[in-house]
Amino acid sequence: MAEPASRMSKMEGKVAIITGGASGIGEATARLFADNAVRAVVIADIQDEKGQRVAESIGLNRCSYIHCDVADEEQVIYLVNQTVSKHGRLDVMFSNAGIMSGSDQTLLELDLAELDRVFAVNARGTAACVKQAARVMLERRVRGSIVCTASVAASRGGCWRTDYIMSKHAVVGLVRSASRQLGEHGIRVNCVSPSAVATSLQCRSEEELEEVRRIYEQNTSLKGIELTVRHVADAVLFLASDDSLFVTGHDLAVDGGLTKLPDEKK
Ligand SMILES: NC(=O)c1ccc[n+]([C@@H]2O[C@H](COP(=O)([O-])OP(=O)(O)OC[C@H]3O[C@@H](n4cnc5c(N)ncnc54)[C@H](O)[C@@H]3O)[C@@H](O)[C@H]2O)c1
Repeated sequence: MAEPASRMSKMEGKVAIITGGASGIGEATARLFADNAVRAVVIADIQDEKGQRVAESIGLNRCSYIHCDVADEEQVIYLVNQTVSKHGRLDVMFSNAGIMSGSDQTLLELDLAELDRVFAVNARGTAACVKQAARVMLERRVRGSIVCTASVAASRGGCWRTDYIMSKHAVVGLVRSASRQLGEHGIRVNCVSPSAVATSLQCRSEEELEEVRRIYEQNTSLKGIELTVRHVADAVLFLASDDSLFVTGHDLAVDGGLTKLPDEKK
């Protein structure tokens, strides 16, 4: 029987795409994949300068950047086709790009145009990435791994950010359905669900981030440790690599055992 991959070579020989890879969780995951001997990691984002800089700092021999707005399926098709024509295959799609609404989006104040904008990226964009990754994996008969970024917001209701919470519930629904439909082809589909982690997504202001963190910390079982992007990347690495060969349709919470949030900030 084959030995499990050594600690630093879990991604050896694999070709991966990471959407939203120019910053935060996506960037940390690109770096971790590179540290784990990935053959090629393609960062896809709409922040071109940042994405290019991350690719260069990882090393252009194994990392490249492609502009891709995931809300536009044509751009996702281009991303996936370019990756396969350059590297011959796609083993891992980390569909991670996401945005937060610009206002509180409580139900009675719900701006539906803003809801459409959030859905276009978080739900529709994720569906396009999963669909197109599965298409090329099937074409090339690759038993690949698709990982999406959901959220703790995907498993509970809340008193604000209604559109964001709805969009993340949609991601979990997509993962559950896709894992059932793609299982017969050996393609695994899972998601990670982090609680609050300091990235540009959460930092509308330092004060807001601190407030969210304080509330999460009070309601988390694990004490004395703060969630970082590296913790989330470690969970993604597990789901992307052969360490999780019999895991599919799973929503992996990276939340320190979040028990329950008080009503104000769910
Ligand atoms: N930070 C948190 O507390 C937290 C918690 C749970 C889930 N998440 C999820 O994690 C994922 C990553 O977010 P992050 O926290 O690293 O934030 P981030 O803002 O650092 O990263 C998000 C990246 O997505 C990119 N992006 C945005 N719209 C895009 C589009 N249309 N096409 C392609 N790329 C696009 C951004 O440019 C950015 O680089 C998101 O899906 C987010 O919802 C974050």
